Amino acid sequence: MSDRSQRGHLTVVSHPLVQHKLTLLRRRETSTASFRQLVRELSLLLAYEVTRELELTMEEIETPVAPMVAPVLAGKKLCFISILRAGNGILDGMLDLVPSARVGHVGLWRDPKTLKPVEYYFKVPSDLSDRLCIVVDPMLATGNSAAAAIAKLKEAGASRLRFVCLLAAPEGVAVMKENCPEVPIFTAALDQRLNDHGYIVPGLGDAGDRIYGTR
Ligand code: URA
Repeated sequence: MSDRSQRGHLTVVSHPLVQHKLTLLRRRETSTASFRQLVRELSLLLAYEVTRELELTMEEIETPVAPMVAPVLAGKKLCFISILRAGNGILDGMLDLVPSARVGHVGLWRDPKTLKPVEYYFKVPSDLSDRLCIVVDPMLATGNSAAAAIAKLKEAGASRLRFVCLLAAPEGVAVMKENCPEVPIFTAALDQRLNDHGYIVPGLGDAGDRIYGTR
C-alpha cells in the first residue's frame, strides 16, 4: 500500500510512523518537550517525502575497495523557508535530514480580527531562482500567510516551490490552489475545517505556543 495519497497538488503522507506521531502531537496532554521532539521527527519524515523526486547526477568516487560511479544530488542546495515563528519548529527536523540546505525566514503576523497576514520580516538567500524552495509552516489554516509568503518569494525570484505543513484545513488548501496552483503541498493530515477563530478542527491547538511553551 502506498504511504502517500495524492489529490491534485495535495499529498497526504499516510506513513504509519507519521500518523502515529501526529496523534501523539495532537493530544492535549503532550508536554512541550515531547511536542517539540515530535515536530522534529515528523518534519524529518515529511522532508523525506518532499525531497523524494530530487534530481540526481552521477559522480566518480572511490570507495576503500574500488572506484565507482555513484549518484549525488544535482544542482544547487535546497532552500528551506520558515514562516515565523512556528515554521522554525519544522526547520530543525528538515535540517537534520538536509544539513547543507540554505535557510530563509518570512515573518508574518496574523491579524486576529481580519485573519490576514501582515509582514514584519523577510530575509532569504539572493539566488532563490536557482534553488528548490521548500516553504514550511506547521499549520495550513486560512492559507493567507502561506499564499502571502509564496507571493513574496516569487517576487524575490523563487520559481520552484513546495509547501510542507503538519496539518492542513480544506479552506487553506483551497486558498493555495487559487493563488499558487503550481505549488505542491505536503501534509501529514487534511483536517475537517476551521473554527471561528481560524483554528484547525480537530487540529492540535496553537502550534507556535505548543512548540515554545508560551500558552
Ligand atoms: N495556527 C495554529 O497554530 N493552529 C491552528 O489551528 C491554526 C493556525
